[in-house]
Amino acid sequence: MYRTNTCGELNIQSAGKEVTLCGWVQKSRNLGGMTFVDLRDRYGITQLVFNMEVNSELCGQARKLGREFVIQAKGKVRERSNKNTKIPTGEIEIDVNELNIISRSELPPFTIEDETDGGDELRMKYRYLDLRRNCIKNNMILRHKVAREVRQYMDSIGFIEVETPVLIKSTPEGARDFVVPSRMQPGTFYALPQSPQTLKQLLMVAGYDRYYQIVKCFRDEDLRADRQPEFTQIDCEMSFVERNDVLDTFEGLAKYLFRKIKGIEINEPFLRMSYQEAIERYGSDKPDLRFDMRINVLTEAVKGHGFSVFDSAEYIGGICVPGCSEYSRKQLDELTEFVKRPQVGAKGLLYLKYSPDGSIKSSVDKFYTADDLKKWTALSGMKPGDLLLILAGDRSKTLTALSELRLEMGNRLNLRSKERFVPLWVIDFPLFEWDEEISRFYAMHHPFTSPKPEDIELMKKDPGKVRANAYDLVINGTEIGGGSIRNHDASVQKLMFKVLGFTEKEAEEQFGFLLNAFKYGAPPHGGIAFGFDRWVAMFGGQDSIRDFIAFPKNNSGRDVMLDTPSEISEKQLEELKIVIKREKEG
Ligand code: AMO
Repeated sequence: MYRTNTCGELNIQSAGKEVTLCGWVQKSRNLGGMTFVDLRDRYGITQLVFNMEVNSELCGQARKLGREFVIQAKGKVRERSNKNTKIPTGEIEIDVNELNIISRSELPPFTIEDETDGGDELRMKYRYLDLRRNCIKNNMILRHKVAREVRQYMDSIGFIEVETPVLIKSTPEGARDFVVPSRMQPGTFYALPQSPQTLKQLLMVAGYDRYYQIVKCFRDEDLRADRQPEFTQIDCEMSFVERNDVLDTFEGLAKYLFRKIKGIEINEPFLRMSYQEAIERYGSDKPDLRFDMRINVLTEAVKGHGFSVFDSAEYIGGICVPGCSEYSRKQLDELTEFVKRPQVGAKGLLYLKYSPDGSIKSSVDKFYTADDLKKWTALSGMKPGDLLLILAGDRSKTLTALSELRLEMGNRLNLRSKERFVPLWVIDFPLFEWDEEISRFYAMHHPFTSPKPEDIELMKKDPGKVRANAYDLVINGTEIGGGSIRNHDASVQKLMFKVLGFTEKEAEEQFGFLLNAFKYGAPPHGGIAFGFDRWVAMFGGQDSIRDFIAFPKNNSGRDVMLDTPSEISEKQLEELKIVIKREKEG
């Protein structure tokens, strides 16, 4: 038997027991004639003690132990004189009488501590060492718990988990596909699923009624903190439902997870806001509602006074920042730099300071009277002591920039606590969006999303105005999930493909399997998919999903540990009948 106990379970009640522990050497220190070794395993850390006076040979052996050696230690549990109240095993130590080195370790390339000296790439290269760190290990355990609770809840309300294939045909979720060449049919390719969208719809046609799956999805798209090329969804679909049935069901799941994972009871229904309202008020379809700071439209009020920046702008909007009227020149310059960043995209920033004494100062004083400016304060709901930040330009770009500025101010004023959660359903998304570059509509969600019944007529006349029966769950400004009620009526689905510019032949080629299935009795159905990694990261209080995935990719989509993507052998290429077109060097 390798061990009698783990390194996380012995306490004062175990004093006097003979035990055998195994684990990794976290660190060791020598104090006078004593050597103390912190022994670590998944469950915790236990202190081992070696005494030079009692057993010099054993103590000498202990002094040679390096970091991350795997050892086995036998000895007696005893009460510590110098207790550590920070860890559960801190009241005891093991008086070791036998030590075996199971496996040696080279000096690790970075310290295996919460505050490590290893940079991102180095830690990813040695991910198995990074995973030993307590903070990452806790993230993995959190992930496991969330998955377990999801399964528990979904099972309790009658959903069954069905696995769907990974080698499929393209699913249009808006990103590029990862493709896999077929050896048996050279020149043809499978696509890895961007989501199991079409397959879950087929399960509804099959009559499975309530399906879910914790499933890997693959998307070849630009990566960000909350995006990985390979990520996990909690994918769900239900039959004989309308939008509110889906929202209620999954609000139940969200509330259950908040209770089980964070100990937070949410009794009131989640807020609901239309896409249009979200954009107008917050400049974003995923507004962070932990703080207010809405956007106020100033366009009409400020135009026509000879100030060309405003007069030439399509849209002018401002956010009222409470308590910041005393912002200094330097702080305002910093904000100006912020809004000019390419990711924010504004040309400049204008302001109005409403001082606590009631006086008003603005960067555009010379074009406006005191009365004009007073009107702006009223329009923006300002109180003495507040600061109004104003951006002007093209409507959609300015709203986006105002949204970024709002988040920045939320950060600066500490209004975005990671321990507060404000969930929101964003509903009534547009069904289509116009793509200027290719001069055609594309599906804002995906092509299987149904229009709101009252907007079906508009599909032929004015597709840009059609609202979708689609919804997103947004929590603290992050899109945690999205879904829709689908087209189960083949004629509406055909119309959808037509607006999207598919010829009948193209629609048949790409989605014939689904359109055919709809000929055999399709129930009304709808569903949602949650970003599992995002949800876990949010519960873990972090923005980046990377540390909640055991083996993530870096920002260029590389696994630096496996060193992949990588070339394959000539033999494999030959079998696949693939010839690589190499760029000429130099
Ligand atoms: P959607 O494309 O909105 O919908 O994806 C659902 C959720 O998955 C998460 N997500 C991601 N997480 C990490 N990395 C990524 N690259 C990534 N892309 C998406 C987000 C998102 O809300 N088939 C539809 C769902 C449906 O209609 O039922 C779909 O996949 O949290």
